[in-house]
Amino acid sequence: MIEPSSQLSGEEEILIEVTLNGRRLKRRVKARQHLADFLRQEMELTGTHLGCEHGVCGACTVLIDGHTARGCLTLAVQMSGKCVDTVEGLTESGQLAELQEAFITRNAAQCGFCSSGMLLTAYELISSNETLSRGEIRECISGNMCRCTGYHAVVDAIETVMTRRGKHQK
Ligand code: FES
Ligand code: FES
Repeated sequence: MIEPSSQLSGEEEILIEVTLNGRRLKRRVKARQHLADFLRQEMELTGTHLGCEHGVCGACTVLIDGHTARGCLTLAVQMSGKCVDTVEGLTESGQLAELQEAFITRNAAQCGFCSSGMLLTAYELISSNETLSRGEIRECISGNMCRCTGYHAVVDAIETVMTRRGKHQK
């Protein structure tokens, strides 16, 4: 049994080693700090947005070892030994270029608040081996809330890229 005195307090700092946007780094992080705050406050990667902070809206979506995850529900200390990718890293590497172009062309980004999370969710979709129908694309982005577009334009943009890649079924 863990003695109360040996439990971590939220303020305690722990050394983590993480690969962030392809760069390996070491940082001391507070035990209570969630990943989205770590990215925004310590790493100045403010493309990861914060909305609900309860795992509902998807604005804080990042990739952890290639899979989408909620930055607001993940502690930064849990990232030791993991690869974290944010919208900034994938933009810099050009991996989001086709999706970003489609989002612009199809008017799938208006205020832009949801866009980073939406793009990372879409990126996971187009990177998978799945062939998806329009209804399935809609279902896959249902964890990312958008107050502006009504989702139609977002589905159009993702569908455009998936069609080009032969991953869209009518
Ligand atoms: Fe994380 Fe809303 S801020 S899901
Ligand atoms: Fe405004 Fe989605 S573009 S919330």
